[in-house]
Amino acid sequence: MPPLPCAELHLHIEGTLEPELIFALADRNGIRLPYADAADLAARYAFTDLQSFLDLYYANMDVLRTEADFTDMTRAYLRRAATAGVRHAEIMLDPQAHLARGVALETCVDGVAAALATSEADHGISSSLIAAFLRDRPATEALGVLQDLIAMQAPIVGIGLDSAEVGYPPSLFAEVYDVARAAGLKCIAHAGEEGPPGYVWEALDVLRVDRLDHGIRCLEDDALVERLVADGVPLTVCPLSNVRLRAVPSIGDHPLPAMLARGLNVSVNSDDPAYFGGYVDDNLAALVGAFDLSIDDQALLAANSVRSAFLDGNRRAVLL
Ligand code: HPA
Ligand code: ZN
Repeated sequence: MPPLPCAELHLHIEGTLEPELIFALADRNGIRLPYADAADLAARYAFTDLQSFLDLYYANMDVLRTEADFTDMTRAYLRRAATAGVRHAEIMLDPQAHLARGVALETCVDGVAAALATSEADHGISSSLIAAFLRDRPATEALGVLQDLIAMQAPIVGIGLDSAEVGYPPSLFAEVYDVARAAGLKCIAHAGEEGPPGYVWEALDVLRVDRLDHGIRCLEDDALVERLVADGVPLTVCPLSNVRLRAVPSIGDHPLPAMLARGLNVSVNSDDPAYFGGYVDDNLAALVGAFDLSIDDQALLAANSVRSAFLDGNRRAVLL
């Protein structure tokens, strides 16, 4: 059976850098990597928590230097996503991770945007860009980058919040989200991946997010689940990521079936597919294998993804 058409809503474009592409870009840019080859690099993808992944994720970004590097990375993702059934992708970019390395905002934004501009014609995937801010850097820095993005009329539909979660509650970024909302941008944030349910409450009540990334720890708080269900808040769940970062012990322990049973608006996404063992189709296959998910449940997950996308009515109707 061909994959069901779906939207991918939780995807860090830098997390799609496959080891082979990391080596190809290093070669092109004259960078010597501290690994023997792609297999040696991939062998290091044994993470113990979010931070152990982030350390490698940020280090590998060093190979991204030119606009063409960002374009090629994005095209490689779109090519693979098309085979996974993705027909719409909302893609996060971490501008601060590139600015900190001396790469200009225009270089990373324009590079990714160039691939997205032709994604529908090239790959049958409509797409949009979301600028994600690093919560383990100062909110003042995020605000400055947001203002620069607005000033340059960057082609973004929204903002997100990612990187190390525990110790960096969403409320630190209240002003950033107020400014983004006033500028007409959609608001999403990672919360409840490693952080406690209180961070999910803050993302809802202080940041007033339109959608939540992960959110799996909401199940620890019944009142929070009731709120999320009542408001139909979309949760972009990433099963293989949760297993690889040890937020859950194994795929068989994943809370997605419980989340569906509680009536939460969940979709399946890949997060950082090059690092976590697979794209959207691999994530779905893992769930189906572990839980024998029915066709109806699979169709519901796909429909939830399309309904939770920041799409206009026409494109949504085509995909549903
Ligand atoms: N969690 C938080 N920040 C991230 C992730 C993630 O899974 N991937 C890239 N940045
Ligand atoms: Zn993520």
